[in-house]
Amino acid sequence: MEMNIALLPGDGIGPEVIAQAVKVVNAIGKKFGHNISYKEGLVGACAIDATGDPYPDATHEICAGSDAVLFGAIGDPKYDNDPKAKVRPEQGLLRMRQKLGLFANVRPTFTFPSLVHKSPLKLDRVDGVDFVFFRELTGGVYFGEPRGRNEQGTKAFDTNVYSKEEIVRLARMGFEAAQGRRKLLTCVDKANVMATSRLWRETVQELAPEYPDVKVEYEFVDAVAMRLIQWPKAYDVLITENLFGDILTDEASVISGSMGLMPSASLGSKVKLFEPIHGSYPQAAGKDIANPLATVLSAAMMFDYAFGLKAEAQAISDVVNLSLAEGYVTEDIADGGKAYKTSEVGDWLAAKILG
Ligand code: IPM
Ligand code: MN
Repeated sequence: MEMNIALLPGDGIGPEVIAQAVKVVNAIGKKFGHNISYKEGLVGACAIDATGDPYPDATHEICAGSDAVLFGAIGDPKYDNDPKAKVRPEQGLLRMRQKLGLFANVRPTFTFPSLVHKSPLKLDRVDGVDFVFFRELTGGVYFGEPRGRNEQGTKAFDTNVYSKEEIVRLARMGFEAAQGRRKLLTCVDKANVMATSRLWRETVQELAPEYPDVKVEYEFVDAVAMRLIQWPKAYDVLITENLFGDILTDEASVISGSMGLMPSASLGSKVKLFEPIHGSYPQAAGKDIANPLATVLSAAMMFDYAFGLKAEAQAISDVVNLSLAEGYVTEDIADGGKAYKTSEVGDWLAAKILG
């Protein structure tokens, strides 16, 4: 297959982890006979530094003309500590999602047998956890207008807004995913307080009869925050709005034992985007110590979701599991054993795929 991939390494550890994913993707291409080409674009703080714009048109053109986007991370502490900054790296990510029509963010949580003891939860709670969030990504309070301050600057406001159409398209993805899994869908909302949440619940209730094989549960977001820790095995597919999904997927991502391991996919249009859940981790940037596995697993999701190539995706998951089992890992999960460099882990994975 011909594959045109847009590479957006971004900021912080982004370039280092993306470089390892590229090694792995190239190894897969070689082994399975795919012709893979790349175009690289700037996004985030590095794009602001170079062009003044966190998501330059040139980057958008590269993404829109590709089959899939592999994205590292964005963010820079110099903006985090400056709430008055006019341009922020995060705006680049939000514009990219919106302009590419990526309305669904798929964030799975699953466990790795050799790592489950590193979970902050007790073994009986976490062993075998396997659920996936479908987070709405281009609506809600992230994009709602009006937003801002009153004239005196003493009051601030954001607007949370959802149309039925936005809810339906995300919910359908959730129902369909549940049909291919354990057939349980949880609608996460705050319908006891928020009008938007009541529209979510009503809309999901209307759709449910079209998916008679899927059991639907409705839970308030605060209760889900609790049950994710108490009994995460209760969940299969969860659907939720943008802000709730942002918060809960960070919580969910550490259940497996390391945030350095969880991949994600953003779907909605022809071009799909794949990125690790961890951020730009600026403290580790340039040190060759960051864990590249979440980005490598995001590349596995790319083969599956963007190209329908399940054997290729499986081959990547298999070598990742092998590296965990054999302890060929970075310092964050080395657990007292030898810690390997980011680049060494990438080389090892690629060699194992070809070996
Ligand atoms: C994420 C991030 C972004 C978000 C930030 C960087 C804007 O936290 O992808 O979850 O809030 O969506
Ligand atoms: Mn987040």
